[in-house]
Amino acid sequence: MNNFEFKNPTKIIFGKDSISKLSNEIPKDAKILMLYGGGSIKKNGIYDQVKTALANHDVIEFAGIPANPEYAVLMEALKVIKDENISYLLAVGGGSVIDGTKFLSAAALFEGNNPWDILVKNIKTDKGMPFGTVLTLPATGSEMNSGAVITRKETKEKLTMGGPGLFPEFSILDPQVITSIPQRQLANGLTDAFTHVLEQYMTYPINARLQDRFAESILQTLIEVAPKVLKDPTNYKAASDFMWSCTMALNGLIQKGVPGDWAVHAIGHELTALFGIDHARTLAVIAPSHYKFNFEAKKEKLAQYAERVWNITEGNTDAKAHAAIEKTEAFFHQLGIDTKLSDYTKDYEGTAETISKRFTERQWLGLGEHKSLSPDMVEEIVKMAY
Ligand code: NZQ
Ligand code: ZN
Repeated sequence: MNNFEFKNPTKIIFGKDSISKLSNEIPKDAKILMLYGGGSIKKNGIYDQVKTALANHDVIEFAGIPANPEYAVLMEALKVIKDENISYLLAVGGGSVIDGTKFLSAAALFEGNNPWDILVKNIKTDKGMPFGTVLTLPATGSEMNSGAVITRKETKEKLTMGGPGLFPEFSILDPQVITSIPQRQLANGLTDAFTHVLEQYMTYPINARLQDRFAESILQTLIEVAPKVLKDPTNYKAASDFMWSCTMALNGLIQKGVPGDWAVHAIGHELTALFGIDHARTLAVIAPSHYKFNFEAKKEKLAQYAERVWNITEGNTDAKAHAAIEKTEAFFHQLGIDTKLSDYTKDYEGTAETISKRFTERQWLGLGEHKSLSPDMVEEIVKMAY
């Protein structure tokens, strides 16, 4: 294993009816801004549960954070934070609301003139405004990590940010929230979490046995519960495994001491920025091509994944590794997720060149676990995904 340091300060409150425990977690004298999305929480009862739990707190609300949290909307929320002297943020939503709240946590204490600099200059936040979350959609792991991804429509950009000051103080995970999630978003959540594990696992072997087995166990669990979750989101046991797998996939644990890739996400974010394709679906478009293009560098781990996760025992390393890529693509299809860019847009010609040019301009000249994936190679991968 490589050397590492690991600190994750987020308190997880997991289980049935756990939203009622909210009031214990936020100081009584806090002035809270509750942030949420397009209103799903009003239909499924989560809004009422939160308001009941916070009946004795001072709470104002900011609604309307869209999927792929939009910078212009967040700047409106930042004004509310300043005008109302807010001291605590509460995100009630999925990755988009939580990420938007992380941006606000950073922006509220940011000393520069232009909060967009946090993203474009990659400024790490050591101290943000304190915040907690009530998770409504298992997928991103944002509820237990310190990263966020923010979109700016005006420039068709989608950029990442983070820092040690941006872990939620607490996150409430009640698996019952998944009962109201549409099939499309359930499939997205499964795909996103699955790919998070792949990004931290599908590199090269370094004999980090425990890290590999953590990763494989999350993949196996997601494969096992996926059909159950899609068939019946009221299946509490399956919902619990699904929710905890998503959190564990990206709370930092499995990436410690091992190489990481993250090229699939870097390329995928561009597809969301350019075409508005759901985050998880962009990953399903890029991952198979990425693994085919980088086959020689990744085949040992692909073969290990074939054996241990998909029980493929026949054939040599190359054959197993190829079969693993096919199995992965078939798994996405089984979830109802298309894996070609042309399935999502007719305007795909030129996309590969656009992304390659953007990466060159941003000086992203070497992605992946070897920092060797050049913009030209990225262009090839995107073309393979048309
Ligand atoms: O806006 P509302 O009305 O809440 O509806 C949402 C939204 O339309 C709906 N939804 C959420 N919970 C629901 C529900 N509908 C019914 N019942 C519920 N219980 O689902 C839709 C999608 O929500 P969103 O938050 O956008 O989804 P997700 O959690 O997949 O988040 C995606 C965002 O997270 C970023 C992505 O790039 C994307 O912007 N990511 C964040 C990461 C991180 N911070 O670590 C890592 C990821 O790789 C990812 O990049
Ligand atoms: Zn993701």
